[in-house]
Amino acid sequence: MLVKNRNMENTSLESKEVKEVKEVKESKENKEEAKNLKVEVEAENLNFFYGEKQALYSINLKIPEKSVTAFIGPSGCGKSTFLRTLNRMNDIIVSARVEGKILLNNQNIYAPNVDVVDLRRRVGMVFQKSTPFPKSIFDNIVYGIKINKLANSRTELQQMVEQALKQAALWDEVKDRLNDSALALSGGQQQRLCIARTLAVMPEVILMDEPCSALDPIATEKIEELIVELREKYTVIIVTHNMQQASRVSDYTAFFLLGQLIEFDETEKIFTYPKEKKTEDYITGRFG
Ligand SMILES: Nc1ncnc2c1ncn2[C@@H]1O[C@H](COP(=O)(O)OP(=O)(O)OP(=O)(O)O)[C@@H](O)[C@H]1O
Ligand SMILES: [Mg+2]
Repeated sequence: MLVKNRNMENTSLESKEVKEVKEVKESKENKEEAKNLKVEVEAENLNFFYGEKQALYSINLKIPEKSVTAFIGPSGCGKSTFLRTLNRMNDIIVSARVEGKILLNNQNIYAPNVDVVDLRRRVGMVFQKSTPFPKSIFDNIVYGIKINKLANSRTELQQMVEQALKQAALWDEVKDRLNDSALALSGGQQQRLCIARTLAVMPEVILMDEPCSALDPIATEKIEELIVELREKYTVIIVTHNMQQASRVSDYTAFFLLGQLIEFDETEKIFTYPKEKKTEDYITGRFG
């Protein structure tokens, strides 16, 4: 870099800066390439409105596949709204309006021909408060498999249920009582059941909106361990108010403020050397 700059004596400072930025970008791209990162979810100039009220402003973001990304920011900054735009969960709100694009593997999910039921299978969602159906543990998992016609036989169905419960680290605790009501499970178990229900339909992306906020520290630890394991196969996006949780489980962190994406980077960088003062103020607890 230094040698190159010496050879550019006649060029203006501005063009040197441009070149340096380009070089940094290129070396970063090479690094990303070396790590073999493929973008799974991309937001392009995304604006979101509840009626007249704008909740998200021109969000641009690229989330790599098979990684965990944490969304952080103060209450009301638009984390849940943005998360819901990623599988069109906001469609059900009458006054809601979206501008811009969300690309899932380069395909715009807001394009007119998109099958929303299939989209929500591919991009599953786990909510803050676990939401099992008032049915048996078995039936909770079977539901999505049947709706999406994923099993060809009863045996295959049973295998898929077992596999989903194993992946969600719940199988050992429930294998002898699959016909019991899901509502008889503890809060932490119910949350893992909801994760199993999402996994059963073979998603690509899993969205989690504050999945541990109603859980005790032990149940939280289990879910966090699970999130780290899920990264092997899935792209996980989690909203959290817990800074320790974000730094423990995520590879990337996006910081939102008043409907804007302030900064997105590797979690380690966000929590050690954030580029933006607003990010630093938030993670050090100076506001929010
Ligand atoms: N259904 C809705 N109708 C109208 N406005 C809404 C709706 N849901 C959210 N909002 C508004 O949009 C903004 C963003 O809300 P959102 O729920 O996305 O924030 P959040 O970052 O998830 O907050 P929290 O951390 O409290 O969950 C807020 O001003 C909120 O009042
Ligand atoms: Mg929220």
